[in-house]
Amino acid sequence: MKQMKIEGRNILRGTIKISGAKNSAVALVPASLLCDEKVVIDNVPNISDIEALNEIMIYLGAKIKRDGDLMEIDASGIENKEIPENISRKLRASYYFMSALLGKYKRVSMYFPGGCNIGARPIDQTLKGFKALGATVIEEGNKYTVFADKLVGSHVYLDMPSVGATINTMLAAVRAEGETIIENAAREPEIVNVATFLNNMGAKITGAGTSEIRIIGVERLGSCFTEVIPDRIEAGTYVIAGALMGDNLRIENIIPEHIENLLFKLKEMGIKMTIGRDYVCVSRTDNIKPINIKTLGYPGFPTDLQQPITTLLLTCNGESLIEETIWENRFQNVEYLNKMGANITLIDNRRIKIKGPTKLKGCEVKATDLRAGACMILAGLIAEGTTIITDVGHILRGYEKIVEKLQGVGAKIVLEEI
Ligand code: EPU
Repeated sequence: MKQMKIEGRNILRGTIKISGAKNSAVALVPASLLCDEKVVIDNVPNISDIEALNEIMIYLGAKIKRDGDLMEIDASGIENKEIPENISRKLRASYYFMSALLGKYKRVSMYFPGGCNIGARPIDQTLKGFKALGATVIEEGNKYTVFADKLVGSHVYLDMPSVGATINTMLAAVRAEGETIIENAAREPEIVNVATFLNNMGAKITGAGTSEIRIIGVERLGSCFTEVIPDRIEAGTYVIAGALMGDNLRIENIIPEHIENLLFKLKEMGIKMTIGRDYVCVSRTDNIKPINIKTLGYPGFPTDLQQPITTLLLTCNGESLIEETIWENRFQNVEYLNKMGANITLIDNRRIKIKGPTKLKGCEVKATDLRAGACMILAGLIAEGTTIITDVGHILRGYEKIVEKLQGVGAKIVLEEI
């Protein structure tokens, strides 16, 4: 077990370089199985979710070489085996193996995926996509067996723009016969990254990044190179850290357009920032205004920054409101922020009211999930005294070298084995 210890109230100065996006990389690795040759992916973050995926890749027989951020995957000799529940349960993205194996072998057997406990996280839309392509789905408890003689392109309408279902349908359709159209597709930049990767292999996908994606199936996919886009959620988290404790803190290697939703809200609050082509410089600003936030699919305000920005709203002059429309269990951080001295009221499981400004005092808190953990680190950075965060395994799943990156700009934070 690991914990983090933070001495609060240290100014953050210098530069933080953003890593490759977790939510892209966790789809690109399973997607590489669709290729009949070697692929090379650059800017792969060094996080435990990628280690968990590599464990599955190696179990299936893929050959993986890692050299820093560069990853070479040769999945040409893999076997289509059932992935044991204890490894698929480690993360949500394990269900990208379902679609990649189905797309390649027309048959897959797998268990319900894991992931942060932030809601029920059903997979009905993914299964809807598989069925639309002509697959039969057999559910036995937690286990899904999906098969087809052949997958045939079709018109799929997603009931909601689900990131997972959009990527899964793309992966299953890319080697199907004929054309698949995904309507009401999710528009996240990570989906564009996955489509570009597949197109580099020889797939024919258009419209990724819009709500209508068209895929013309191809028979084989060949060797390619691709790069993981910068992690917009990691970038957003550090921009918020700069708004809390920064003195011209520079967050670089980012695509500012991908975090426009956050930058607009920070401007509304009165935060001082300079936005460049691939960086943002941000400083702590006094007397910031309260705001209202409603989480939505991209390009709306991202649910994954909802918990991190809550810490910033504690410092506003007045009352802010957050409405979480994506996940029904994403306010587990509230109990711990209030333990530190915040004044947050849970209106219901979708809305909270935050009264600011409040001063936080360090104490022992828990990272209940990945982004709640990021929220607690931000709280520790502004609190008086020492904050101890337990269950930090959740944080290490998604933020590469978070302790080293924060230490590098002046934070007093350490990771301890307990
Ligand atoms: N939904 C369904 N049925 C489905 C799929 C989704 O009802 O078949 C619902 C979900 O319950 C949720 C909404 O649709 O209410 C959106 O879910 P989505 O499928 O878009 O989420 P996801 O693919 O499971 C990814 C990220 C999450 C991020 C969401 C939303 C990955 C591995 N995870 O999850 O990231 O919150 O999109 O942007 O890409 C995180 O990084 O901390 C994280 C949780």
